[in-house]
Amino acid sequence: MSNYENYQHVSRFYDNTRTAVGAEIIRVQLEASELPINQQLLVDAGCGTGLYSAAFVREVGKIEAVDMNSEMLDIARKKMKTEEKNGRINFHITSIDSLPLDDKSADAVMINQVLHHLPDNSSNGWVHHKQVFSEFWRVLKPGGKLIVNSCSPEQIEHGFWFYHLIPDALQVMKKKVIGLSDMHNLLAECGFTSTHQVVPADLILQGDAYSYADGIFDPDWRSGDSIWSLVSEDFLETVLDVVTNLRKSGKLEAFVNHHDQKRATTGQVTFSISHKIP
Ligand SMILES: C[S@@+](CC[C@H](N)C(=O)[O-])C[C@H]1O[C@@H](n2cnc3c(N)ncnc32)[C@H](O)[C@@H]1O
Repeated sequence: MSNYENYQHVSRFYDNTRTAVGAEIIRVQLEASELPINQQLLVDAGCGTGLYSAAFVREVGKIEAVDMNSEMLDIARKKMKTEEKNGRINFHITSIDSLPLDDKSADAVMINQVLHHLPDNSSNGWVHHKQVFSEFWRVLKPGGKLIVNSCSPEQIEHGFWFYHLIPDALQVMKKKVIGLSDMHNLLAECGFTSTHQVVPADLILQGDAYSYADGIFDPDWRSGDSIWSLVSEDFLETVLDVVTNLRKSGKLEAFVNHHDQKRATTGQVTFSISHKIP
């Protein structure tokens, strides 16, 4: 459960600007396993509206999709009604730190853009991350794969031009995301091995909507990124005034370009791929 985003509300708009970004990277990992992809049991931890499950439900043997938010899960379920009926996917409303799955039952676990919703930060030692990784380790078969899709602190700093309009929220978000070396160490503590990280610098979480600067004025557009939940109503008014003035003075494009420059090298997302030792 997110302690800052209202997914009850956001569920209705989430798919307007979000897609299964990086699904190809996950597919390559699943296909590189010894067991053929169509026999694999895949866990989608924090499946949300089921964007990633939908990308794989006809390719893998079976998906166990888990989320704590009933509205997000309802949308996922509607999307994959037939596949649920056919036994290709099961939906579970529960927390990802307590999966309703047997030990050593899954071939792969994917977790896409969920970790920053755990009530952790750098000062509490990432305890909930550790619980979640340990739970993934429990349900994975020996040799199973964990694929984590997350943003690093550097990506929060440089990967999203509009975060520079909301610097306080940017700082809060930066503390909510685990650094790549801390993640690497934590995964090792939980028994995972040979972690490697893939940074696809060209992938953009909100797709084409990301560069539509006027989107800032649209609550649906803002629903595509939970950082806006860290911005007060009052400050949002100020931000919208700033953007209005930038636009009036013809400087909005320059602002976007300036704060988007480093994204070409940092990217927005990192995929961390680990193995459970056979
Ligand atoms: C940003 S959305 C990502 C959804 C989906 N994975 C995607 O990438 O489209 C985060 C999701 O994580 C879920 N979530 C957050 N913490 C959770 C937890 N502890 N257990 C289960 N689901 C959780 C939220 O309810 C929400 O649906």
